[in-house]
Parts: sequence; C-alpha cells; structure tokens
Amino acid sequence: MGKLVVANWKMNKTIGEAEEFCSHFDKRAGNYMICCSATLIKPVFDCLKDRSKVGAQNICAYEEGAYTGEISAKMVKDAGADVTILGHSERRHIFNETNDDLRKKLDIANKYGLQVIFCVGETLEEHDNIESVLVNQLEILTKEDLGNLIIAYEPVWAIGTGKVATEEDILVAHKIVKDYVKRNYGNDVKVLYGGSVKPENAAEILKLNCVDGVLVGGASLDPVKFESLIKTANEVL
Ligand code: PGA
Repeated sequence: MGKLVVANWKMNKTIGEAEEFCSHFDKRAGNYMICCSATLIKPVFDCLKDRSKVGAQNICAYEEGAYTGEISAKMVKDAGADVTILGHSERRHIFNETNDDLRKKLDIANKYGLQVIFCVGETLEEHDNIESVLVNQLEILTKEDLGNLIIAYEPVWAIGTGKVATEEDILVAHKIVKDYVKRNYGNDVKVLYGGSVKPENAAEILKLNCVDGVLVGGASLDPVKFESLIKTANEVL
C-alpha cells in the first residue's frame, strides 16, 4: 500500500460527471479515497465497489430529525460512505463551523463508525502563531476519536491558491500535530498534507517522511491527474 491520496471534490460534479471520472481512471490504482457531495456517494460507491473508500465532506452535528437541509452520518453511511472530512477550512470560514460544532460531529461520526479526516490549518495572518492555532483546533479531540482518525494539515493560504507550503512549513506543522497527539493521547496519527497539491509537486511533498499522504482539491477533479497522484504516492515508498 502506497501513501494515501484523498480526493476532495468539494461542490463539483454531477452524477454523470462522477461516473465518467470513475470510468476514466484505473480503479485498482492504489491507496486512495474519494470524498464527494452527498448526491455522488452512491454512484461513486457503485463504480468503485470494494476497491476504495468513498467519503462525505461533512455531516450534520445532530443525529436526525427537524434539521432542514442537513445530511446525517447515518444517511452518508447508508449511501456507501466509510469516511467523512470534518473541519475543512471552507466549512470553518465560509459556514462558521466552530470547535463546538466539530466536537458534536466527531461524536456522531464515532457513533456511526465513520472514519474522520480531520482538517487543521492556519491562515496567513495566523502563520506566526501556527503552534497555538493548530493546538486550539486539535484540543477538541479525545482518545476515542483517535482510533480511526486521520488528520489533514491544510494551510488555508495554500488551498486553491497555487501556493504550496515549503518543505520547512510542512515539517514544522506535521511535527506540531504528531507531537501533540503523541504527548496527549499516546497515539501515532497519520497526517496528510493538503493545499495546491498537483502532479508537478506531489513527489516532493510525498517523499517527506512526516507526510502520510495528500488531500487534493482541484487536481483531484481530473482523472488523469488523480491517477498520476496515486501512482506517485505508490512510488515514494
Ligand atoms: P486544493 O484544495 O488542492 O484545490 O488546494 C485542497 C483542499 O481544500 O482540500
């Protein structure tokens, strides 16, 4: 198994486009997951079968009931998702998701056995205080979460901007995250890097020992690029 490549399709693709994507890349390619909109979970699940995990990008903080417009952990699980992203910076910043909301979502994910890809990262203004920003985001985790949790370090200033964090930035941030988790929970945790990862820069990022994989937005929408990222992630080991 190579390092992990996770696609974050964000709010992109119709069912037809998702199916076309799946027919255009080698589903046996390696170690990857596709996190997509709720409408795409079932069609992507049907295309990938037992080859890979399909994931949601968010779940509701409540279990079920009068929450118009929300989608529950039970629903995404029922559609075929084994995993969900939580705490992506677009959710934190555009939809004002707080640590309290995320704590509730983690509890629901645990209850339904969904693996969580928990995103942390600092804005450009916060970069000088990176340790306290990351620790504040990590502090809501409990020992129970860590059984099946992956953390994604995504500097907000590198998401969708074409600006990739330097090797030094990635080493510093991943060390903060891994040390924090080890110190407080005694666990080793897998940490992905995310932020403008593309075929041209993936090898340099994935070859770093502290990087267990990548979370990819823009470049994951194209099946040729996505396949090439998975190939690179297989080769770095
Ligand atoms: P990007 O997005 O690869 O387009 O920068 C990454 C993400 O937001 O997960």
